[in-house]
Formats: sequence, structure tokens, C-alpha cells
Amino acid sequence: MSKAIQAVRGMNDMLPDAVQRWQRIEAIARDVLHAYGYREIRLPIIEKSELFARSIGSLTDIVEKEMYSFEDRSGENLTLRPEGTAGCVRAGIENGFLHNQIQRLWYAGPMFRHERPQKGRYRQFHQIGVEAFGIESADLDAELIMMCARLWTALGLDGLTLQLNSLGTLESRAVYRRELLRYLETQRDRLDEDSLRRLDKNPLRILDSKNPDMQKVIAAAPSLYDHLDEASREHFTRLGDYLRQAGIPFAVNPRLVRGLDYYTRTVFEWTTERLGAQSTVCAGGRYDGLVEQLGGKAAPAAGFALGMERLAELMAQQANQYSDAQPQAYLVLLGEVAEKQGLALAERLRDAGLRIECNCGGGSLKAQLKRADRSCAHYALLLGEEETRNGSVTVKDLRGSEAQSQVAQNALTDFLKQRTGRGEKS
Ligand code: HAM
Repeated sequence: MSKAIQAVRGMNDMLPDAVQRWQRIEAIARDVLHAYGYREIRLPIIEKSELFARSIGSLTDIVEKEMYSFEDRSGENLTLRPEGTAGCVRAGIENGFLHNQIQRLWYAGPMFRHERPQKGRYRQFHQIGVEAFGIESADLDAELIMMCARLWTALGLDGLTLQLNSLGTLESRAVYRRELLRYLETQRDRLDEDSLRRLDKNPLRILDSKNPDMQKVIAAAPSLYDHLDEASREHFTRLGDYLRQAGIPFAVNPRLVRGLDYYTRTVFEWTTERLGAQSTVCAGGRYDGLVEQLGGKAAPAAGFALGMERLAELMAQQANQYSDAQPQAYLVLLGEVAEKQGLALAERLRDAGLRIECNCGGGSLKAQLKRADRSCAHYALLLGEEETRNGSVTVKDLRGSEAQSQVAQNALTDFLKQRTGRGEKS
């Protein structure tokens, strides 16, 4: 037998179960994006290599080391897109929909980076990206972040932390870069290999280093915030005000830089502690200079992209009890009266849109609870003699640590929807 051919390293097959989970995330994301007036755009997966060198930056890791570039049969230098912003701006300039216009756009699809594969980091991965053009004020930045927050809620995710920073204008950043370089040169013998490599090309990225040995050097570095121009500082303050008003907690991280060169002013990342090293689920910021840099008439812009693989993993970890293939509750029936009433009660709950598995064929409490557990239901609802008499059920949390409680049968629908509503079929 000849040797079977395997998939390319870092590029994953997505089997039907996973596709179903992704489709659910995509449907929810689409609804949230549409609720804010964002419209879908579909863009080519291959672009001219020069587009990425001119936007992401020729000295970034992505462009220097990670792009899938090749010459096509007519000798043109092309690249599988490593991200979506550059292509979206290119399309906007080419189709004339950016100049003096407001556009709110989103896209979804595969991106390609030749990184070292590990959990949460792949060579083909997928993003949902959002780009808004024509608005310079910080209300747009706030809207983008609020949209993310709404999406996490809609997906039933918690524990995501928002980090914010401002990189200022290209000019103020250039001044800061010089200052930072001067400082880092004095620390040369304390820099690690990675930082030494970045010193000439992209010194701001040194601030981003995760190496514990570097933290002292970084902590004593001049602060980017102190070098912000007045207008950028004002912009950043406003963004903070909007977010506080919207009740969205955030942490200002003066070391948050980003691995792409096109950002100006706001940058942000949503991270989680649940995914290990690859903890950034969603990231973005403002890029007011990029449209002009790519040959268009100047137009302010901001956006973000979320990583589907990381989001799906987080959903799987956090929300497996809410899968819509599993019952929300298992009805345990103890005694003859309960058995008679149970089927009807299960029907009423299903009428209200809940997924209920009802015990059939009797069995001891222990046996029924075992079946309840195997059904993957979130709750067991115990209907025994006493409950049939007082019109209640005893609710037992099979997945979490909620204390056992009695709930009136006519309050059960609300109770279950509130706690497991995310698993309802939409
Ligand atoms: P990015 O930070 O390079 O930004 O990527 C955004 C998100 O894509 C990351 O936070 C992560 O969740 C996911 N991601 C990136 N690389 C990988 C990988 N190798 N494997 C799995 N997931 C990955 C951008 O791409 C910008 N275009 C975002 C943006 C849009 N800024 C403004 N508009």
C-alpha cells in the first residue's frame, strides 16, 4: 500500500461537527454586525505581495517571515492573504467607495501565516473582520468595542478582558521611536536575542516581549503615553469616557503595541486566560494613514478581527453544556403519580421552546440520575410524590455547583431559559 498523503502542517480539516459549531458562531456574529449597520464584503484570498509590504510593513514578522508568497505562471509576485484589512482597503480604493464616504464593512474567511503551529496558532486560520471608514472621532472606536462586547454576550462568553492603548499619530510615534531607541541602546547588553533583532527594525515590538528577563528593561523604558500628541490624547480620553458610560471595563496597557505597522491612535485586544499562550481572541485598532499610504485619498478608518479557531475553542470549553444538541433538562419521575404527570409536564416545557429529555421506563432515583448525567443535560428536574402535591420540581444542577432548589412548575420555563437560554435553537 502506498503512503497516505497528509494535510499540510498547520492547516486543519473541519469535520461536520465542528462546522456546525462554527456556523452557529457565524450566524450570531452576522446578526450582531447587522444590528450595527455593517455590511458584508467578499474579497480575494490572493493579493499582490506588495500590498502587504506597503500596509502591514516590510519589517514586521508577518511580512518578513510568515507570508505564503509565490510567483504565478506569468511571473507576478502574489501572496495568500495573511489578514483582511489590506485587501479591504485595496478594494475600497479600487472601487471608489472610500473617498468622502462612511462605510461599515465586515468579511469572513481564511488567512494564511507561516507561523510555528501550536494550540490556537495555525498556518491557515479564519477571521471575522470588521472595517469602518470615514469616521475620525472616538465614538466609532467605542462602537467597535461595544459591538465586540455585545457579541461576547450573544455567544454566552464571559471572562474576556479588554486592553487598550493609543499609539498616537505616525509623527508622534516617530518621535517616541527615536527616544525609545536611545534608551534601548543604553540597555543593549540586557536585551534578549529577540529584542536585539527587533532593535533596528521595530523597537516598539520590544515593549511587547513576554520574556520575564526583559520586564525590568521594559518597565523603565520611556512611556509612549508621555509622547502622545495632544489630539491623540484627547481622542483616547474620549474613548475611555464612552466605554465607561457603556459600562465596558477596560485596562489601559501602555505596552500594547501590535504586530502590524498601520495602526495609529487606538489599539485594543480582547484576551482570555482560558486559552493558554494564544490568548488574544480579537484585536484591532485605528489606521487613519493606511488608505493614503495605499494610494487612495486620505480617509480615517478603524476595525478589528477575531480569530475563529480561538473563539470556537473558547465556546467549546465554556459553553459545552449549552450545545443545542443536548437537552437543557432531564426529567426524573419517581412514583406512579409523577410518571402520569411527567409526560405532560415535559410537553409543556417543550411547547415553550425547551429541550427536555423525559425519563421513560421507570427506575430508581440513582438509575435515573445516571441516565440524566449521560444525557448531558444541564439540570435534572426531580418530580416525586411531594412535588406532584405542591406543583413544583426539585432542580439539581448536574454540571455546576448551584445548590439544589425547589422551583414551581409554572416558573420552570423562565428558570431554565435564564440559565440555559444560550442553547435554545434560534
Ligand atoms: P491580528 O492581531 O494579526 O490582526 O489578528 C487578529 C486575530 O486573528 C488574532 O487576535 C487571533 O485571534 C487571530 N489570529 C492571528 N493569527 C493567527 C494564527 N496564526 N492562528 C490562529 N488565529 C490567529 C489583524 O489581522 C488585523 N487585520 C485586525 C484589524 C482589522 N485591525 C484593523 N482592522
